[in-house]
Amino acid sequence: MSKSISGFSKLSKSKKIDWIVDSYFSNKEDAKYVLKQYWNTNDKLQQLHDEFIENTITNYYLPLGVAPNFLINDALYTIPMAIEESSVVAAASKAAKFWLDRGGFKTEVISTIKVGQVHFMYHGNFKSLTTYFNTVKSQLIDAAKPITKNMDKRGGGVIDIQLKDKTQDIAGYYQLHATFDTQDAMGANFINSCLEQFAQTFKAKAQQFELFTDSEKNIDIIMSILSNYVPECLVKAEVSCKVSDLNDHSDILPEEFASKFIQAVNIAEIEPYRAVTHNKGIMNGIDAVVLATGNDFRAVEAGVHAYASRKGRYSSLTHATVDNGIFKFWIEIPLALGTVGGLTGLHPLVKLSLELLNKPSAKVLMSIVAVAGLAQNFAALSSLTTTGIQQGHMKMHLMNILNQFDANTREKATLVKHFKTNAVTHSAVVEAINKLRVKD
Ligand code: MEV
Repeated sequence: MSKSISGFSKLSKSKKIDWIVDSYFSNKEDAKYVLKQYWNTNDKLQQLHDEFIENTITNYYLPLGVAPNFLINDALYTIPMAIEESSVVAAASKAAKFWLDRGGFKTEVISTIKVGQVHFMYHGNFKSLTTYFNTVKSQLIDAAKPITKNMDKRGGGVIDIQLKDKTQDIAGYYQLHATFDTQDAMGANFINSCLEQFAQTFKAKAQQFELFTDSEKNIDIIMSILSNYVPECLVKAEVSCKVSDLNDHSDILPEEFASKFIQAVNIAEIEPYRAVTHNKGIMNGIDAVVLATGNDFRAVEAGVHAYASRKGRYSSLTHATVDNGIFKFWIEIPLALGTVGGLTGLHPLVKLSLELLNKPSAKVLMSIVAVAGLAQNFAALSSLTTTGIQQGHMKMHLMNILNQFDANTREKATLVKHFKTNAVTHSAVVEAINKLRVKD
């Protein structure tokens, strides 16, 4: 059992590491070596990463890959993706190439409204509260002007504030439900600062409101926070082509491919067990781009899955139809993203990723991210309904298995060649390595 520690955050980085290795590791030097191996040799760059969070001890690498050939609204993109799963970038690239020759991806940003709420308790007359809210509403917005003035100049700001009665669910519970336009910023800090100001003004002005009784004047603010549920910050991405152009697979006719593909989507629409995995595959593409561009993938995940359940049953984020011989496949998802603020101007790889994408606006980034999700789902369903997922997945995973067995460059080359025409399974790879090593 290790000891607890107080004042850990105040220790220097090297003292923190000393404490960790002393408390948890038998081979202390090895553990230290692994941690320090990932430090950047550029001290300034390392310090930047150290200061992103508290108690940094090292950096955690993920591969940053790129998927080229994405034709989106007639412009070509090479999409940066930060992800550890072997087959994701390959699948995205394959889908991009497929649709490149079939008109590419089309997108539409449907809305860009973000939401925040002040949750409060009030035990009194609802009419008086409504009158108070209507009287004070413009003052709430005015008091937040020092926070909103730059955003206002950029064309964004507070859109509206509504009073919501939630007393059916919890006695005395109400909300100030505010909507925002944060332009190219993800806007979390902006929204939270506005909300805290609304809360402060709302509480203070209640003290002077004449229609309130003494007890009604004591509005109890519970919390003020943005919502990561953003069903009005929506983007749609779509591909379509003649069914006869779905001719990428030699062993299945395009019509049969389209029919099986649509059944696979239908199943994900009605069967939550399948929908979760189906959407997980979509998030493989989405998270990888969200992460590469310095956005908050946890916020995106939470919002997207809530959206997938909005009709009371968890369901597919993508949909597909065939009409008059035209195959159509699309995704509609909420994405609150930013291309300014946060990590976007700070993390060198995020800056590079955004430059690779031609410094997109938040709306353009919403489109690119939605496309990455749709492409990923197209690739997954194409494999699942034809060859099965393991063929492609294990081909990409081969290198991981070879690395587990410390295969050298020559062994890798021989075995990659061997497995071009043989099924990759963990045991087949182990057997092939052993055979090769016995020969040598
Ligand atoms: C694996 O990471 C993702 C898939 O399971 C998605 C799917 O089943 O649609 C292949």
